[in-house]
Amino acid sequence: MTESQDWISSPTSPLRGEVRVPGDKSISHRAIMFASLADGVSRISGFLEGEDTRATARAFAQMGVRIETPTASERIVHGVGIDGLERPAAAIDCGNAGTGMRLLTGLLAGQGFDTTLTGDESLSKRPMRRVIEPLAQMGARIESQSGGLPPLRISGKSTLHGIDYTLPIASAQVKSALLLAGLYAQGETRVTEPHPTRDYSERMLRAFGYPIEFSAGRARLSGGHRLHATDVVVPADFSSAAFFLVAASIVPGSELTLRDVGMNPRRTGLLRALRLMGADIGETNARELGGEPVADLVVRHAPLHGVDVPIALVPDMIDEFPSLFVAAAAATGTTRVTGAAELRVKESDRIAVMAKGLRALGIAIEETPDGAIIHGGALHGGAADSAGDHRCAMSFVVAGLVARSPVKILDCANVATSFPGFVELANGCGFVLG
Ligand code: S3P
Repeated sequence: MTESQDWISSPTSPLRGEVRVPGDKSISHRAIMFASLADGVSRISGFLEGEDTRATARAFAQMGVRIETPTASERIVHGVGIDGLERPAAAIDCGNAGTGMRLLTGLLAGQGFDTTLTGDESLSKRPMRRVIEPLAQMGARIESQSGGLPPLRISGKSTLHGIDYTLPIASAQVKSALLLAGLYAQGETRVTEPHPTRDYSERMLRAFGYPIEFSAGRARLSGGHRLHATDVVVPADFSSAAFFLVAASIVPGSELTLRDVGMNPRRTGLLRALRLMGADIGETNARELGGEPVADLVVRHAPLHGVDVPIALVPDMIDEFPSLFVAAAAATGTTRVTGAAELRVKESDRIAVMAKGLRALGIAIEETPDGAIIHGGALHGGAADSAGDHRCAMSFVVAGLVARSPVKILDCANVATSFPGFVELANGCGFVLG
């Protein structure tokens, strides 16, 4: 278990400068997975050196994949081929990573050996039935703890067959788990989503030469083909850039440039929501990096006002609600979030954690089963408990910048799961965080 860590974020003068946040977490997980299964050697650059993605790299090392680390943000993966993974000697620890565990569950269901997946305290409370049930329909045998919770015991040597599955809830993790199992299944695996979600698995399978057809909200592939090594360039993680977008929007006089930010439309819902609230965020230098759209974002302080967050934006900003809540707290008027019940089963119950923390800082906020009603107001100092959730912790740091007096944020150690070096980077552009 990571040691508990508390931080203090203090009111600040304008934020200025240029920031390049670390590599995208979702893409980094997938790059390790597909490169491991490919024939040949792949180089990953811009890799997120966070605890979540390192846990995924360790998992493949446990299964016989040689992974070199020439620099912190690079990995050279010696792929073992689609059938080349070896039985790990011990259980695989996915740490805090829901993406790691859910995607691995799909992949491991197709192997010739048994495996056990474990996770930390937070991951051990996260629902896994959403992957277990459709994988069982494909012929997988997976045992969980009661309530569908980890650890998961996945039996190898199952014969998998493709299914045509419509996801009840939009989830890129579930979609990706089924596609990974589909690599090992007889026949075709088809996945349909209620709302399109991030399509990194689909794009990356294609980049690794695997035949796949996909369009918004749909993907299909057949088992039995091979992946061919390729180099992957990982853009900066929009979800990490989000804290700086909100911070510079709410701290008067600020202007920040965020470099190389991944702009996949299935990730940038917060940008659209902030613009609806009156934010001043420009995009320059739009281009492609490793097959993904990227841009530099220039964000200047602007007075924000409350909005009803359009429900259609929810899947495209599912990881950004903690920072949206802070933007709403610092805005004038009321912001309503609906259709976001998934927030209750993320690394923490993000509705409850953000509501409790912001209330402790003087904000009037009502929880609803699938969202919240946030009344913008003056933030005062105090203590906010992140409940070990990396994104809640960083969001409370942003709240501290505009509070009347310092904010103590409890339990911040897990920020390292997605954003190593956050404190240094933040202080480098004017945060007062220690
Ligand atoms: C992710 C998908 C999303 C997101 C998570 C990363 C992915 O989860 O919240 O942080 O990499 O596929 P769900 O699939 O549960 O929505």
